[in-house]
Amino acid sequence: RTVYVNGEYLPEEDAKISIFDRGFLMADAVYEVTSVLDGKLIDFEGHAVRLKRSLDELDMAEPCSKDELLEIHRKLVEENGIVEGLVYLQVTRGSDGDRDFVFPSDDTPPSIVLFTQNKPGLADSPAAKKGAKIISIEDIRWGRRDIKTVQLLYPSMGKMMAKKAGCDDAWLVEDGHVTEGTSNNAYFVKDGVIVTRPLSNDILHGITRKAVLRMAAEAQLKIEERLFTIEEAQGADEAFTTSASAFVMPVVEIDGVALGDGTPGPIATRLREIYLDESL
Ligand code: PDD
Repeated sequence: RTVYVNGEYLPEEDAKISIFDRGFLMADAVYEVTSVLDGKLIDFEGHAVRLKRSLDELDMAEPCSKDELLEIHRKLVEENGIVEGLVYLQVTRGSDGDRDFVFPSDDTPPSIVLFTQNKPGLADSPAAKKGAKIISIEDIRWGRRDIKTVQLLYPSMGKMMAKKAGCDDAWLVEDGHVTEGTSNNAYFVKDGVIVTRPLSNDILHGITRKAVLRMAAEAQLKIEERLFTIEEAQGADEAFTTSASAFVMPVVEIDGVALGDGTPGPIATRLREIYLDESL
């Protein structure tokens, strides 16, 4: 695999980042994941805009222009022959060669890394046909989840807790209400109405969320953006999650309670089809 590190395209085994890099020492870094379908980047623009926002919120310098970013994404997809997969992008505050809680001076260049992940079968996914089983866990992440930082230890632990329980993923609950999934936004559907938490600093503003809500509105589906509990979702007709890495993923079980007949629901299935159709 060819990867991109700080201005260079290299074989992955030759790519290097300093051990003092603040992304490594302090999780002082932001990231984006953009999906690739049929060799094309999905919603690059949305991811580029969110990256800029994450950088601005953390007072971090832009490593390059949006046009350059697009060029790097395209080149890696082409070089690595990605038809279905992902492009991972990470920008860190870099390093001035030591460990210090204080940010390095403004002229310290940020680090930027991109690599591709080949995922054949991403669109025609067996996991999406089965639907996901979810557990709920407490959301103990920090209060700026709208910034896409690489502080992913708790979400990783959440996935491991789900796996241990024989499930696929976890939904996070704060003050009795679902915030989002470990790496996706969360929805349920009751009597034809799609319910999802409104945007705030409590959740990541999903690029897929925005696209899917637009497509749902265009399909004349009703949408309510409001807080909801696990119990309410358990009593729903169906549920699903959205993310760049799994598009629309039906949810068939929450904390051991099957939704509907325990198979992917019609609205989740339809939204997945619409999303894939429009993206291709
Ligand atoms: N995760 N919420 C969280 C906490 C996420 O980490 C993600 C994305 C989403 C969905 O956002 P989007 O639709 O823009 O992908 C919501 C990526 C895919 C990841 O960490 O791999």
